[in-house]
Amino acid sequence: MKVAVPKEIVANERRVAATPRTVAKMVKLGITVSVQAGAGTESSIADSEYEEVGASIESNLEPLLGAADVVVKVQPPLQHESAGKHELELLKPDTSLICILQPLTNHDVVRQLADKRITSFSLDLLPRIARAQAMDVLSSMSTLAGYKAVLLAANALKTVLPMLTTAAGTLYPAKALILGAGVAGLQAIATARRLGAVVKAFDVRPVVKEQVESLGAEFIELGVSQDDAEDAGGYAKEQAEDTQRRTLELIAEHARESDIVITTALIPGKKAPILITEDMIKQMKSGSVVVDLAAEAGGNCELSELDQSVVKHDVTLIGYANLPSTLPSHASLMYANNVSNFLLHLHKDGQIAVNLEDEITKGTLITHQGEVVHDFVKGVLGGE
Ligand code: NAI
Repeated sequence: MKVAVPKEIVANERRVAATPRTVAKMVKLGITVSVQAGAGTESSIADSEYEEVGASIESNLEPLLGAADVVVKVQPPLQHESAGKHELELLKPDTSLICILQPLTNHDVVRQLADKRITSFSLDLLPRIARAQAMDVLSSMSTLAGYKAVLLAANALKTVLPMLTTAAGTLYPAKALILGAGVAGLQAIATARRLGAVVKAFDVRPVVKEQVESLGAEFIELGVSQDDAEDAGGYAKEQAEDTQRRTLELIAEHARESDIVITTALIPGKKAPILITEDMIKQMKSGSVVVDLAAEAGGNCELSELDQSVVKHDVTLIGYANLPSTLPSHASLMYANNVSNFLLHLHKDGQIAVNLEDEITKGTLITHQGEVVHDFVKGVLGGE
């Protein structure tokens, strides 16, 4: 089996889907690995490091993709400007593709993958079950995003985070409010605490209270029954209208006294809920900072702008997407480990085995043998 690792071509994408460690693992199993020259450069991995563990380096994209049985990537396939071709055109039929495909929004690519008879797996649809944890790219990337969000906020703030008692006066600690205590939120809490901020957090799922408190933060209680806040998979459901109103009142109360607000609220498959309105921003302290991690999904903050840092009503609003890519070495390390664990999960007798009885395979397989096979994605495409 031949695995190809191309260099990512999306602007500002600095991650790579394989590291020398994951290449070594594959090579040990008899897999042939080819890496495009310079694929690891942005993650500080030299071509020679891949060669040392048994990969070959290919300078040109066409032969790299054309010879592959499996292509591992970070971003979905795209038009390659310098090759003058779409990456998809360069794949032979029945090649397997593993990446973050985002099939619920990338409809054209999904159709092209089916037309081209590519077997595609989308890692962003991996079921969040214990057995899949070592492959869970959303969790590993969200951990990094939660960490980086706090650093961005600290950098934009005009004050320090920790309490400092000095001869020149006492500086009181910054107050941070984290909305959504999933993977990104919990890491944001932990990072803000490490930097000395006083942290409060809110989530619609009351089950996270214990996790929030174990990180030394205060959990903000809604004070109304939240028994139906979660679906069967443990994800948040949309709130009823009166609960939503109460939530916004509560958030407004706490946002007013915060120096930093980091929003990470997500309901899978839905537009992000608005948790910080323009009115709330007007009431926030001058110089405070909001980092909206959900900006790509429409934003939790009414005034944040995707991929921008803007100042409105004297509050800095940061809405950068793809924060993991700003930490490329560690993001690549984690992403590549997730990918190789996934690949090795599928690998049987020198090829990719598509076993639809397996929850992990079924949950991530988007196109196979010329068809869109993922039920949910099929439903979304069919509804157009
Ligand atoms: P997650 O699913 O683990 O956590 C989301 C949390 O939001 C859950 O705990 C959920 O209960 C909570 N939530 C839902 N509705 C809420 C509401 N109305 N009020 C309060 N909490 C609510 O998701 P994860 O992995 O932590 O990702 C969080 C967000 O960060 C997502 O929007 C994701 O797309 C984004 N993200 C952004 C990155 C960037 O670079 N900007 C990188 C990685 C993730």
